Amino acid sequence: MVARGWADNARYSVPMTSEEAIAQLTLIRSEAASQAAAAESSERLRELEIIHLGRKSPMAAIGRSLREFPPEARRQVGQAANEARNVVEQAIASKLNELESSESATRLEAQSVDVTLPGRRPARGSIHPLTQVLDEIIDTFVGLGFKVAEGPVVETEYYNFEALNFPADHPALSMHDTFYLDDNGAAEPLLLRTHTSPMQIRLMESHAPPLYVVIPGLCCRRDEIDANHLAVFNQIEGLAVDEGISFADLKGTLEIFAKNMFGPGLRVRMHPSFFPFTEPSAEVYVSCFACDGSGCPTCRGEGWIEIMGAGMVHPNVFRAAGYPPGITGFAFGMGIERIAKLRYSVSDLRSFYDNDLRFLAAF
Ligand code: PHE
Repeated sequence: MVARGWADNARYSVPMTSEEAIAQLTLIRSEAASQAAAAESSERLRELEIIHLGRKSPMAAIGRSLREFPPEARRQVGQAANEARNVVEQAIASKLNELESSESATRLEAQSVDVTLPGRRPARGSIHPLTQVLDEIIDTFVGLGFKVAEGPVVETEYYNFEALNFPADHPALSMHDTFYLDDNGAAEPLLLRTHTSPMQIRLMESHAPPLYVVIPGLCCRRDEIDANHLAVFNQIEGLAVDEGISFADLKGTLEIFAKNMFGPGLRVRMHPSFFPFTEPSAEVYVSCFACDGSGCPTCRGEGWIEIMGAGMVHPNVFRAAGYPPGITGFAFGMGIERIAKLRYSVSDLRSFYDNDLRFLAAF
């Protein structure tokens, strides 16, 4: 008996008798089953499913032509078609099962973590060059018997200026030169300290002599910021108060500091200067460590580099702090950034605050 109207697959598209249809189904069944068994991926199996069981498959075409067979033949072909479908479905399903478990094993294998691999280390920071320099300065003075103290950045006019013997008309007291705070009716104007010297008074008020102390800390000035000036910077103050302290003690102490910081071969020079709170006052210079005094770009041709202000504590300062008459002492103050700049030959003070890791990693 011939079923017409299908030619879906050239390979199987022979007009059919029921015997031919059954033979076709047997062929499909065995070919499909062996293709399934040979499949190497689940994609290939899905493809075989479409080819052999899909809407356009020869098997489907035979199914659609069933009603064209007489009842007995229809029954036989139908049964053969069912069996063929079952066998092919079965072959595909079991191969799929097999492949999926091995594919997932491969995937697991590929994704597995080697717990013996070394971990990723977080980048280690380093100590900021300003902190390194400050630590070194403090070490030197602690080695000489000085203690370390700290004090407030927000100060009163009294401690920052008045008690330090600044006359009331000193230009540093001007609004243009210092950061004043909105004082909300405070008894006295509040400001950001312009130097660490106010701590001289605070410490003498609270401690009886003798006193040997260094005081690091933040200071602020209304300066234009450039390669040599910052509006917010750090100083370290030194104060030594005892009986019979002389200018020679000051110079000897600063020489030890300078040699520790910049090298044992250099010389220290003191140059007359003025600060309201010291008398006599001096600017302290070291011989240029780059050219040893002959003049070079580091010292701007001068052979000497200024590193701090210093002097003998003014009697009016002792008086303001309530210290006994006849007591003696010296004081000095230097900028940490400036010392670090010289120490590390950094050309611009601002680099210390740029937070550029390429710069910071160099120390
Ligand atoms: N306070 C001074 C300044 O900031 C430095 C200084 C300190 C000078 C102690 C003499 C004595 O410039």
